[in-house]
Amino acid sequence: MEGACYRWLLLLFLLTRGLAPEVAGEVEESSDGPDASQGPVWLTDVPAAVEFISAAEVAIIGFFQDLEIPVVSVFHSMVQKFQDVSFGISNDSEVLAHYNITKNSISLFRLVDNEQLKLEGEDIENMEATQLIRFIETNSLRLVTEYNPMTGFGLFNTLIEIHLLLVINKASPEYAENMHRYREAARLFQRKILFILVDSGIKENGKVISFFKLKESQLPALAIYRTLDDQWDTLPISEVTVERVQNFCDGFLEGKLLRENRKSEEMTSKVEL
Ligand SMILES: *[C@@H]1O[C@H](CO)[C@@H](O)[C@H](O)[C@H]1NC(C)=O
Ligand SMILES: *[C@@H]1O[C@H](CO)[C@@H](O)[C@H](O)[C@H]1NC(C)=O
Repeated sequence: MEGACYRWLLLLFLLTRGLAPEVAGEVEESSDGPDASQGPVWLTDVPAAVEFISAAEVAIIGFFQDLEIPVVSVFHSMVQKFQDVSFGISNDSEVLAHYNITKNSISLFRLVDNEQLKLEGEDIENMEATQLIRFIETNSLRLVTEYNPMTGFGLFNTLIEIHLLLVINKASPEYAENMHRYREAARLFQRKILFILVDSGIKENGKVISFFKLKESQLPALAIYRTLDDQWDTLPISEVTVERVQNFCDGFLEGKLLRENRKSEEMTSKVEL
């Protein structure tokens, strides 16, 4: 839509700019895990590959015609770094053909929006660990993705136009139970609304919170945003239930804005944070 200014994506861009390389560096430092024996799963035929990919929230597959290229050992080293990502590898010609792979390629498959992101071309053969780490960190969007500077980048890279945020302190006692139900609700909106978790205990996330004009006292809260027209809404929520999340999302999709009803309340709270 012409004229939309994508304020939320712009905020993400401003927050993530410059931060990412630092984060990638940190991840790399913690790389020397003790059990380096663990490797990617070999996918030797098409059914095995299909099943492996469909079973994972995020699957990274190395499709290699040539196993001697340097990136293959870099690829192997990723398995230790990302314990919660499924790594597969294949050099089987039928598997490669099934996924339309004509060059050595590393692909990321995501359940949440059914995306396949591909790294390929000349550059990939000598790709360094930091680049591959960055690709994985950025694009590992899940059923519920925790917001951080890396995944913030990845939010640009999805066709899902509506983002729902649960802003909650991860250190709070009610976090685990609320998160469990938020995940349950996420399944209902898979491929329609991207569910994001924002830890209000992290100081840097204060910018996200004030962007949605939320006050500390209103947390935990839901915030919803549509990138297409910059429309947004919020709902302070003391207890997350599947039904409340569902009602909030459905209401937003129907064009209801709860924050309009709270306008007078917001007027009195201009001095925030
Ligand atoms: C795949 O790699 C194995 C070695 O790990 C090799 O024996 C096999 O011939 C390769 N297959 C193809 C199709 O290149
Ligand atoms: C491979 O390409 C064909 C034709 O472009 C397309 O129909 C098919 O869906 C592709 N397969 C995969 C797994 O992407």
